[in-house]
Amino acid sequence: RHIPVICVDGPTASGKGTVAVAVAARLGYHFLDSGAMYRVTALAASRAGLAIDTAHEAAIATLAQTLPVRFEGGKVWLAGDDVTEQIRTEEAGMNASRVSALPSVRTALVALQHSFRRLPGLVADGRDMGTVIFPQASLKVYLTASAACRAERRHKQLISKGISTTIDSLRADLEARDARDSSRSVSPLKPAQDALLLDNSEISITQSVDQVLAWWEGRQ
Ligand code: C5P
Repeated sequence: RHIPVICVDGPTASGKGTVAVAVAARLGYHFLDSGAMYRVTALAASRAGLAIDTAHEAAIATLAQTLPVRFEGGKVWLAGDDVTEQIRTEEAGMNASRVSALPSVRTALVALQHSFRRLPGLVADGRDMGTVIFPQASLKVYLTASAACRAERRHKQLISKGISTTIDSLRADLEARDARDSSRSVSPLKPAQDALLLDNSEISITQSVDQVLAWWEGRQ
């Protein structure tokens, strides 16, 4: 039986995680947070004392190949530790971006990502879901928003968690991360040729979810 895949790719803090989770919930599909895999890989590397650079690429790829990660009920576990919060910091995001630019680390994580494609279907969130990991996906969405909007949303999120930062520094961080993700040689961040573009600068998360579901229904 055909297993449908919906890809939601896009830049940092575009809301793709929230949208992808909501679409998966509405359809009763599985959810893949591929960014979390890179975040956990970066954390595992630092726990192993490996600096994230090309000199350690082979060692980090070996770690990634047998990464003891589990995703359960919205929580992320690394070898029995709940790392859900720890992998969400700006620093963890930047380290994930560095680790994800290493080609053999990306290759090492492909099988794990493919294993999420199970019945009744999958919603996959990332940067290269539609371009590289699931090129045959039934629907590919490229979700974006202006840098100003994304920085503002991230700021609100952090403030609500009691973490103090400034919008300017967040904007600088996310632009640096997007620049790295877009310019790397392997699987750069870019819309798949057959992706539908959705800019959610001016619309709510609910409206974005409804748009993706409407596109999905249009394909049935
Ligand atoms: O989506 P998230 O912010 O959690 O991703 C963290 C980092 O992991 C991104 O900045 C990107 O460098 C990398 N990533 C990737 N490919 C994916 C998902 C994430 O390279 N499919």
